Amino acid sequence: MKIIVTGGLGFIGSHTVVELQNKGYEVVIIDNCSNATKEVLKGITAITGISPIFEEFDLREKSKVNDFFIRHQDIAGVIHFAASKAVGESVNNPLLYYENNLVTLIYILQELQKKEHASFIFSSSCTVYGQADKLPITESAPVKPAESPYGNTKQIGEEIIRDTCKVASQLNAIALRYFNPIGSHPSAEIGELPLGVPQNLVPFITQTAIGLRTELSVFGDTYPTPDGTAIRDYIHVVDLAKAHVVALERLLNKKNKDNYEVFNVGTGVGSSVLEVIKSFEKVTNKSLNYKIVGKREGDVIAAYADTHKANEELQWKAQSTLDEAMKSAWIWEQKVRGK
Ligand code: WQD
Repeated sequence: MKIIVTGGLGFIGSHTVVELQNKGYEVVIIDNCSNATKEVLKGITAITGISPIFEEFDLREKSKVNDFFIRHQDIAGVIHFAASKAVGESVNNPLLYYENNLVTLIYILQELQKKEHASFIFSSSCTVYGQADKLPITESAPVKPAESPYGNTKQIGEEIIRDTCKVASQLNAIALRYFNPIGSHPSAEIGELPLGVPQNLVPFITQTAIGLRTELSVFGDTYPTPDGTAIRDYIHVVDLAKAHVVALERLLNKKNKDNYEVFNVGTGVGSSVLEVIKSFEKVTNKSLNYKIVGKREGDVIAAYADTHKANEELQWKAQSTLDEAMKSAWIWEQKVRGK
């Protein structure tokens, strides 16, 4: 069966391609290489022994999207990762985000709507919940006004899919609301490769530890949490990748209860920034250089998933611990920097 993975050279996309190939799927990657390199293809092939078909083009070019779907009539499903994802950048350049994250989604849905049966997995985010009133967060928690254009594109994206599925019963979609993906494939052949200064916590930790950054700034320690630092649900990227395969197979095997479903994908465990640092220091036996600074605009106090729905309906549960994920992130950082 042929599965299209848009953004398949990216952090989560590449790990998902590996898991799809491990399950015997034929994978076609579409990527415009704006935030990833073709070197990732070598990493994927090194792990699975199978080189995915790769087509480089920008999904904002409607004619190219149309041509692709004409050439690939035998598509069984699409997993859509391709999007811009830097919260801060989205505040400064909203139109880039609305165009790149939503126009591309619309073009893909327009193609899938033409098919007799289409399975579609959408990369969404726990960002849609904002600061949830109740923790852990369930899928029925209200979607809050987005703190950033990036988060808004995830909310609007879900609504576009939901509204399309209402009138296109041949389209079956699942939105996966990721919590915080971290770590790297245990082979260290693929991993997180942020371009420029990392916005996310874990790559900043590993780059500080390897000497690329002088010290980590911890954004605030006066939150109403046990140690004062903000809490998140850090999930190993391989666990997250596997969730995509089980969600896709739910649709391919027509086990879905509705043609638009939403699932949280997290571990169900909340960890504070200081706990993440302590985990890193424990698994690497290194002392991390960090300082406490002011809070970052737009950060929520705490967010971690209620994972019952995915556990029960997808028969999926995150397997890796925070320590294992931090260890894999460090091994990857050392490999990338040739250390
Ligand atoms: C985690 C915690 C920071 C960096 C964002 C997006 C989400 C998803 C993941 C794309 C927070 C603290 C961070 C640093 C710090 N993005 N931190 N120093 O903000 O929870 O989620 O990235 O898919 O949609 O919203 O992740 O890793 O940026 O921050 O203290 O240098 O680490 O304040 O508490 P976040 P993050």
